[in-house]
Amino acid sequence: MRTPRYQQDRSYEWNYTHSPPWNEQQRQSLHNLSAELAKHPAAATYAGLKVRRPVAVAAGPLLNGHWCLAYAAMGFEVVTYKTVRTCEKPCFPYPNLVPVSNRPIACLGKPVSTDTVMRQSWAVSFGMPSRSPRDWQADIAWTREELPSNFRLAVSVVGTTEENAPLSKLANDYARAAAWAASAGADIIEINLSCPNVCSADGQLFQSATQSRQVAEKVAERLDRERFRGPKLAKIGYLPDDEPLHNLADGLREVLTGCVMNNSIPAQIQDPNGNQRFQGQQRGVCGEATRVLSMSQTRRFAANEANRTDGLITIGVGGIQSTADIDGYRQAGAESVQVATAAMVDDRISESLGLIRS
Ligand SMILES: Cc1cc2nc3c(=O)[nH]c(=O)nc-3n(C[C@H](O)[C@H](O)[C@H](O)COP(=O)(O)O)c2cc1C
Repeated sequence: MRTPRYQQDRSYEWNYTHSPPWNEQQRQSLHNLSAELAKHPAAATYAGLKVRRPVAVAAGPLLNGHWCLAYAAMGFEVVTYKTVRTCEKPCFPYPNLVPVSNRPIACLGKPVSTDTVMRQSWAVSFGMPSRSPRDWQADIAWTREELPSNFRLAVSVVGTTEENAPLSKLANDYARAAAWAASAGADIIEINLSCPNVCSADGQLFQSATQSRQVAEKVAERLDRERFRGPKLAKIGYLPDDEPLHNLADGLREVLTGCVMNNSIPAQIQDPNGNQRFQGQQRGVCGEATRVLSMSQTRRFAANEANRTDGLITIGVGGIQSTADIDGYRQAGAESVQVATAAMVDDRISESLGLIRS
């Protein structure tokens, strides 16, 4: 099946409203796939849940339930609903996806150059938009009903800050978003502690182990109260040094199931003449250019968790395009992986990742 394409030359709003169709024929084909999957042993895990292939669609490509269902029908047993908030928020202005050089990013702090065509890397500029909670809750509930039971719906949530508000307020807002997603039917909750597009505290939380712990604790408490029994994940960003990475894990270990890394690599984006894009603000680079750094963080994180009985599950993401890349991340210690960019640009992504199809 061909990948339903996010149209990079159109706005987020356009792509939201022009989501892949869902009709009786598609419903039937997803049910056929579900029956086919049931014939295969679930030999792997994703966040501790049994799956056939340990690969999910990351938060981002799937703007709503129609997008989630279309990717489930392509063989992704776990689909992540793009990050939602407790309040409506518009998307950053177009362009939201700017192709950049595929050259591996070696470290933080160096500008990344734009490219004239999309190869496998781009700078992402969405700013974590969200529909109103009433809209996304109804959409998640509908999506969960349409998804066969051997598919999992993960929902990514983020808190929204007010200027000068105490962290406790942000933590409560994360907890509210998580509880609303859980009550709508999410099987997995992923709290987004990092987003390099956003120059506010909610974009940088992972850089503080104490603040991340405070937020995660609130979320876990609230989800316990809601009797949510599924995996609770944190999405984090890139930390070049071991000490802050391990401190972050120390804070999250008791309260969450696992950590997903990385939410892109932040960089200033400039054209080949050196002119800055996005008014000189950093944007998150995603895709192939980030694989080396993301895999190295996955390795460092997983090694630290490996010998603990209470170790966090490690989920790798960044530049994955093939079964070899999945194997690479798993050899680096990841239990499972997520894919965003390649899932949006590879017309034959199911085959590239060895997904089971009906
Ligand atoms: C179009 C797009 C939108 C994204 N939106 C989100 C988001 O809403 N929340 C989030 O946690 N990560 C978001 N991400 C980051 C991805 O989940 C992922 O961490 C990153 O793209 C690295 O994976 P990749 O190299 O396979 O693209 C987005 C990525 C892309 C490409």
